Parts: sequence; structure tokens; C-alpha cells
Amino acid sequence: MKTLKGYFYRFLGKKSATYLNGWYTFFNKWRLLSVNYVYDAKMYHSHSSMVKKNTWKKKEATIILHYHAIEKAFLHSSLRFRFGIPRIQILLSLIKDLEKEYLTSSQVLIACECLCKYYEIHQKNNIDVSDYFSDDDYGFLRNINQKEEEIVHEQVRELFFKKGLDFKDFASSRRSVRNFSGELVSPETLDKVVEIAKTSPSVCNRQPAKVYCIQNKEKLAEVFRLQGGLQGFTDGISQVLILTCDRSTFYSVGERNQLFIDGGLFLMNLLYALHYYNIGACPAHWAKEKHDDIEIKQLLDLDPAEKVICVVPIGIPKENFKTTLSKRRANTEILHFIN
Ligand SMILES: Cc1cc2nc3c(=O)[nH]c(=O)nc-3n(C[C@H](O)[C@H](O)[C@H](O)COP(=O)(O)O)c2cc1C
Repeated sequence: MKTLKGYFYRFLGKKSATYLNGWYTFFNKWRLLSVNYVYDAKMYHSHSSMVKKNTWKKKEATIILHYHAIEKAFLHSSLRFRFGIPRIQILLSLIKDLEKEYLTSSQVLIACECLCKYYEIHQKNNIDVSDYFSDDDYGFLRNINQKEEEIVHEQVRELFFKKGLDFKDFASSRRSVRNFSGELVSPETLDKVVEIAKTSPSVCNRQPAKVYCIQNKEKLAEVFRLQGGLQGFTDGISQVLILTCDRSTFYSVGERNQLFIDGGLFLMNLLYALHYYNIGACPAHWAKEKHDDIEIKQLLDLDPAEKVICVVPIGIPKENFKTTLSKRRANTEILHFIN
């Protein structure tokens, strides 16, 4: 190869050979990047729930999606009766069709509990739901899950932010807060938050994360519109943090998704740091397509090299507020040893 390169340089002359080599490198990198992005796209197309929902894991993901929306609806102080009928129908049909072995999964059990709570609150208020949720359905679900559990937790602000907890208790005391008082968090406190958040590790210490704080009302409204996942909870939100990662810090084709790893690690540290300083927060996805990505960058005047990783509404929670149970999986569903 070395001799071939030498021959090439001798034959063309140094200037032309360097010029051509530059173009070759440019196209080769572009080719490699395309091949790998196409591979990512193929993997996503085949294995995500985007196209087919034909496996147990995909069905479970759909169950989680819908039961979480129901538990979130229970956060509102006044419940809109007969809400989410299509979700209830999808959940009922999915759970009824599951093979017996899957009915003990943590996520199916809690989905049953959410549905039971939905049924019970309607019964208690004499609201008829029998056109889409029958007594037999309720009996079937209660039989699967006989252990009742609260799907939302009533929180008192003073108790939510406890001091002096060890890490285990501190980590499990953090919850996504969606009810804010509207009071602003000071720049000094946010500076202290970032001091902790930046202790997160990053690949080769490249530290691609940046945090932007927005409190301009018009910009906030635009961010909520573009983000879309905070509907019904935006009233008390006066500040939003936008977490981005700068692509300029990455070199190789293999690092094409590294910004999501470094960004995710920074995000978790940021959430803990906010919780430590008694600030409520709810990470909100930026699982968006091209046009929204372009729009938010223009709105916030971000450097084109930056990628929005997450939108994080922050604030002082109301004195009394609710959080979702968001039941975690059993360890046996997560930890596996490979021999
Ligand atoms: C990347 C990410 C995106 C999220 N997007 C939203 C969202 O758009 N709207 C929302 O209400 N919650 C959102 N959440 C919050 C999750 O619903 C929440 O973290 C999960 O249910 C676990 O509950 P916990 O944070 O209270 O422990 C998001 C969380 C993460 C990590």
C-alpha cells in the first residue's frame, strides 16, 4: 500500500496527489458514515417498534407507553372522566391477548393496576364506562394483579427534598416533577447545579454538554409547542433548561452516536444536582425529526454543531403535588449473567 501511495505521489507530483488524496479521504469518510448510518437505520427499522409490534418486547413497550399516559393523567387535580378511551381499548386488547407467561411481568402487572384504578374511579363517581371497559374486564385484570398499589404519589414539598440521605435513598427520592409554583430559580443556584452536573464522565473528557436556560415567555411557548410532550403541565413552568451536545468534539464514524451517551450521562447528573438543590425537574424528550430540530436551533440561535439532547422544565414545585409511580422493572428483568 505504502509503495502504491509512493508511486502515486511520484507519478502525479506532490501537489496534485495531495489534492486528490484530500478528495479521496473526504469521499471515503462520507461513504463510511453513510454505510454506518444506513446500518443504524436498518437496525432501527427492523428492531424498534416503529413498524411492526409483533414480539413480546414490542407489545410490552406499547403497554408501557399507554399505561404511563394513564398514570400521568391521574396527576391532574381534576380528572376528565372517560379520558383516553382508545388507550384503554388498546391496553385491554393487548393484555387479554398475552400468553400466560407474560402476565407476571412487572410492567403488565402495573398496567393492570392503572386500568383497575381507572375503572374504580369511574365506578366511585357513578360514571358508566361499560361501552369500552366491562365488569368482566375489570375482574380479569384484578385477577392478574391482586396486589393493589398507588399509581400516583401525593408529595409534600418540604418532605420531597430531604437532606442528609445516603445515595440509595437520595436516588430513589428523585422523581419527575410536573407541578411548579412559577417561582424562578436564581442564576446563582443554577451555577451551583452545573458545578455538580459537570462532574459527569464524558468520552476522553471531551465534555460536549451545554445548558441553556430559557425564561422568555414567548420562547417557552414555542419550545412547548415544538416539544409536544408536556401538554397539560405547562401552566406553572417559568424556566426550561435545554441540554445540548456539541458535535465538534467527536472525530470518528464510530463516535456518531456518542453525543447521546455523553448527553445522557450529563442529563442524569443534572437531574440529581437539581434535586439536591431542591429544584423540581422533568426531563422531556427531544425525540424529534429534522424540521423540529432545525426550528429549535433557529429559535434559540444555537450553533449548527449542537444537537438538542433534552428539554428540562425546572422550578420550585407547588407545596403539594403529585408524582407518578412509574414502576421500575424487577431486577431479574434487567440483570443477566453471561457464562
Ligand atoms: C429522555 C426522557 C424524555 C422524557 N420525556 C417526557 C415528556 O415528554 N413528558 C413527560 O411528562 N415526561 C417525560 N419524561 C419523564 C418520564 O416519564 C419519567 O422519567 C419516567 O416515567 C420515570 O419517572 P420518574 O422520573 O418520576 O422516576 C421523560 C424522561 C426522559 C428520561
